[in-house]
Amino acid sequence: EQWERGGHEHFMHKEMHEQPETLQRMLSGRLDDRFATARLDGLQLEPRELRAFRRVKVLGCGSAYYVGQMGASMIEDLARIPADAEAASEFRYRNPIIEPDTLYVAVSQSGETADTLFAVREIQRKGGRVVGLVNVVGSSIARECDGGVYLHAGPEVAVASTKALTHMGIGFALLAVALGRVRDLSFADGQRIINGLKQIPDQVGEILEQEDAIATVAKRIADAQSMFFVGRVRGYPVAREGAQKLKEISYRHAEAYQTSELKHGPLALISPELPTVAIVPDDELLDRNLGACHEIAARRGPLVVVTHEGVELGDLRGDRIDVPRNEPELDPLLLTIPLQLLAYHAALALGHDIDKPRNLAKSVTVE
Ligand code: G6P
Repeated sequence: EQWERGGHEHFMHKEMHEQPETLQRMLSGRLDDRFATARLDGLQLEPRELRAFRRVKVLGCGSAYYVGQMGASMIEDLARIPADAEAASEFRYRNPIIEPDTLYVAVSQSGETADTLFAVREIQRKGGRVVGLVNVVGSSIARECDGGVYLHAGPEVAVASTKALTHMGIGFALLAVALGRVRDLSFADGQRIINGLKQIPDQVGEILEQEDAIATVAKRIADAQSMFFVGRVRGYPVAREGAQKLKEISYRHAEAYQTSELKHGPLALISPELPTVAIVPDDELLDRNLGACHEIAARRGPLVVVTHEGVELGDLRGDRIDVPRNEPELDPLLLTIPLQLLAYHAALALGHDIDKPRNLAKSVTVE
């Protein structure tokens, strides 16, 4: 096993650090510069069919659900069709309305998560079209879907998913461009996203190089019994995934909130004992996000601001983690990477079994 870990102390560590290489591999052959789009032959959908969908519904569990939420917002942004994500574990139980002009997307690392698989079957029974974003080749979900995109992240052993999630995010970006380019997404905007995607592997590498600094922050927050992760719009799924990862392996309570909702309740909890990790990309919501950070600081809540290089934080006290800039639609993918390191180093500081956290399984094949 030590050999398989390739010199890393944990599989999770190895898998985080594999990302620049595996992402490069996933992207190769899928970016079409000539037409400024993504080549996704595995979807088995002609441009005409892709164009006919009027809605996208993403289904996944756990982290796959949160990345699905990220993906849905990429699809809305780039293809301008309504898209949302739902926990696959709930879907079947609310007698969902299955529409023939909705593209259903099942997202799963293992391809064996029972809740997601049963959602796929429910959709198909009612005549819906479902494609998979799946990592494990030949898995049940991959086989049963009507087409899909393999994630090519390679085997993932650690229960807490890292590289597979980033690959899911890339998968959604590719899907969003493909859906966009048969609609209103211009050639120039297609190119902008394709060029952004090409930069992702190296930019992920740059974030991983900040590991020591992030570990120092992680050690500090690991002492807190509870913390918030906040983000807005594109940043909210990032916050949800960050909180999830921390809970899974550090066993600390973490709650994700929309930054805008803080003032409607949870602000009452802010105190020196409750740190907040704030996702503050340099986008149109920057001032509002910074305003919320000041509200937290005024109540002496410790802050970790995950932001872009060059963002002016003024007199805000706290830790800051910078990620490189990409295109706004793709930035959530990069903002997630430091949160993987944060969870890993918090769990390490607390001495937990990082690769096999208590009560959890890598793949839940029962309902
Ligand atoms: C389990 C794991 C989670 C994972 C979820 C979905 O609950 O503990 O970490 O996100 O399953 O797994 P999947 O293989 O479908 O992506």
